[in-house]
Amino acid sequence: MTVHGILVAAGRGERFGGPKHSVLLRGRPLWEWAQESLRRGGVDGVVLVGDLPGGVPGGARRRDSVWAGLEALPPSASHVLIHDAARPLASADLVRRVIDRLLVGGVDAVVPVVPVRDTLKRVGDGWVVQTVDRHGVFAAQTPQGFKVEVLRAAHRAGDDDAGDDAAMVEGMGGSVACVEGETANLKVTYPGDLALAEAWLR
Ligand code: CTP
Ligand code: MG
Repeated sequence: MTVHGILVAAGRGERFGGPKHSVLLRGRPLWEWAQESLRRGGVDGVVLVGDLPGGVPGGARRRDSVWAGLEALPPSASHVLIHDAARPLASADLVRRVIDRLLVGGVDAVVPVVPVRDTLKRVGDGWVVQTVDRHGVFAAQTPQGFKVEVLRAAHRAGDDDAGDDAAMVEGMGGSVACVEGETANLKVTYPGDLALAEAWLR
C-alpha cells in the first residue's frame, strides 16, 4: 500500500493573467512549495503534471490533467493525493490528516474543508436571486485523497459537471469524508493572492 501525490500544474491561469505554477513566492516557484508540502506530509512519491522538470503533459481541463497524472502513477500506488500546484501553503499536518483519514479505511475519498465566512448570495444579471443557507456549507480545498481505483472509475464514468475530483466520486455514490482544512491554504487564483500568501508566511 503506497500513497502517491499528483501535483497538477497545467492550465492557463486566465484569472491570474497567465500560467502561475512557476511564479515566485519568497524566491521559490509555487509548484515547489506545493510539492514540498506533499513530501513533508509523507507521500511515497509525487507525479508532476504540466510544463515542469520531469512533468508529464497536462490537458485542456483540470480533470484531463488529473487523468494524465493517474496514467503516470506507478502500479504500486494504492492511494493518491491530488493537489493544486497553485496552493503553496498547505501544511505537512494537513497532508498527514488527509493521508491518515484515508488509510483508516472505510472511505473512498477525503477532502479538507473550511467554514465559509461570508454570507452567500445566488446572483443573476446583477440582482440577488436568493440568500443561500450557509448552515453546513464548507469550502473544499486540496490535497484531496482517494483510493486510486475509485478515482480512476469516477473519471471513466466522466461526470462533466463535477466541480472537483471528490465530486466525481460523490457522483458515483462513493463515500467522501472530511478533515479540517486550513484558511492559509489558499489557491493562488487572482494576482492579489500572491500578496495574501506572502502575508500568511509573515
Ligand atoms: N490545472 C491543470 N490543468 C488544467 C487546469 C488547471 O493542471 N487544464 C491546475 C492548475 O495548475 C492549478 C489547479 O489545477 O494548480 C487549480 O486550477 P486553477 O486555479 O483553476 O488554474 P487555472 O485553470 O490555470 O486558472 P484559471 O481557471 O483562472 O484559468
Ligand atoms: Mg481553472
